[in-house]
Amino acid sequence: MADTKTAPKKLFVKTYGCQMNVYDSERMAEALGGQGYVETQTPDDADMILLNTCHIREKAAEKIYSELGRYKGLKAANPDLKIGVAGCVAQAEGEEIVSRQPMVDLVVGPQSYHRLPEMEAKIREGKRALDTDFPEEDKFAHLKSRPKAKRGPTAFLTVQEGCDKFCAFCVVPYTRGAEVSRPADRVLAEARDLVERGVAEITLLGQNVNAYHGAADGGEWSLARLIRELAKVDGLERIRYTTSHPNDMDDDLIAAHGEVDKLMPYLHLPVQSGSDRILKRMNRSHTAESYLKLIERIRAARPDILLSGDFIVGFPEETDADFDDTLELVRQVRYGQCYSFKYSTRPGTPAAERSQVDADVASDRLQRLQALLNQQQTEIQQAMVGKEVQVLIERPGRLDGQLVGKSQHLHAVHLDGPISLKGQIVRARVTESSTNSLAATLLED
Ligand code: SAH
Ligand code: SF4
Ligand code: F3S
Repeated sequence: MADTKTAPKKLFVKTYGCQMNVYDSERMAEALGGQGYVETQTPDDADMILLNTCHIREKAAEKIYSELGRYKGLKAANPDLKIGVAGCVAQAEGEEIVSRQPMVDLVVGPQSYHRLPEMEAKIREGKRALDTDFPEEDKFAHLKSRPKAKRGPTAFLTVQEGCDKFCAFCVVPYTRGAEVSRPADRVLAEARDLVERGVAEITLLGQNVNAYHGAADGGEWSLARLIRELAKVDGLERIRYTTSHPNDMDDDLIAAHGEVDKLMPYLHLPVQSGSDRILKRMNRSHTAESYLKLIERIRAARPDILLSGDFIVGFPEETDADFDDTLELVRQVRYGQCYSFKYSTRPGTPAAERSQVDADVASDRLQRLQALLNQQQTEIQQAMVGKEVQVLIERPGRLDGQLVGKSQHLHAVHLDGPISLKGQIVRARVTESSTNSLAATLLED
């Protein structure tokens, strides 16, 4: 008979939403590692399933309930299977999740997952555990130090959480709470540790990462200062950060783009709309013109920077003229890559109460905006053909002998080469551009 006492329990984690959830999922799996769990890639043989959820749009939230429905059979076959819901749906809907899906054993919000080990012990006793507090204590200080395993060449590192901006459409200030920055020394220590374990590129994460103001040396550090200090870490080759708010792009951060070689020439800077009337209604505290001026300054500091953004179409009261302003702003900026969404009504947010745009009108606008954004992306990628890029090799490709990595501009690049190049930055010449990636040939040194 198998020794069930020592056999590790299996944990299946499924992650939805933004990169911060990807980081949190890693930390939650590590926290449960201390309870004897190892990760598995399928829910079928799991002892615990943890969904790390996103509440940003209605579809994202509803997906969770259909996913939970799929686990009914597994739970019936294995009554010991534990099911947990973490992340922003957990925070926003709390007990409602349990009343809609009584088979859920555990609900944990994004600020309280350091308490997972105690919660796991509780559900093993057959009780239910629910924690959606915004605790006083810093969860990062309470999480155990990260395991020393070797890692892939890229990693996320959360430095700031929460948001005080309260855009009229957005749930994040409610699900993630107020803006908090991690102390700079802890961030630097975690970064050094990641590098020792094989990481060459770190993406600093925050809901408003450029609002970072982490405590250090009895004062506060800005994101620019943190980046300059990180750039001194030997073995760390690339630094990125996301997501930024236009109002927090200070002079020093703009200057850092021109001065810090390790800071990659890519910036995700959502603007949401090109209409000042709508921006005001969205509570964005910037105008289309101030955004365009900002882009000009960033491009002056780093002319080859590739810009990316987020857009919402069909925000309440958006007219054809407002939407035309958005198209015009996009034409002026020329984005390398963008995300665009139809406005989704989120309960509890100010915009939910306002008069909604007709769904077909919103769909039509989304199509038109996406056509323009795709055209810009294609043109910018096409212009890369024949150019030399530096590719951080991340993994083998689908075809034999093929490698996949990322260029400085975050383009996915496919090239042929030996897998021994994984983790290295190689020079390559772009030969072809396809929908979401580039093909290149390796250049010998
Ligand atoms: N903190 C980031 C983004 C958070 S959410 C920032 O401020 O840029 C990611 C994107 O989802 C947003 O930029 C926005 O474009 C989109 N989004 C947020 N709420 C939405 C809603 N209610 N409907 C549609 N899209 C939304
Ligand atoms: Fe949401 Fe606005 Fe905060 Fe971004 S800045 S997380 S869109 S409230
Ligand atoms: Fe979604 Fe929460 Fe991130 S709502 S986008 S998972 S902060």
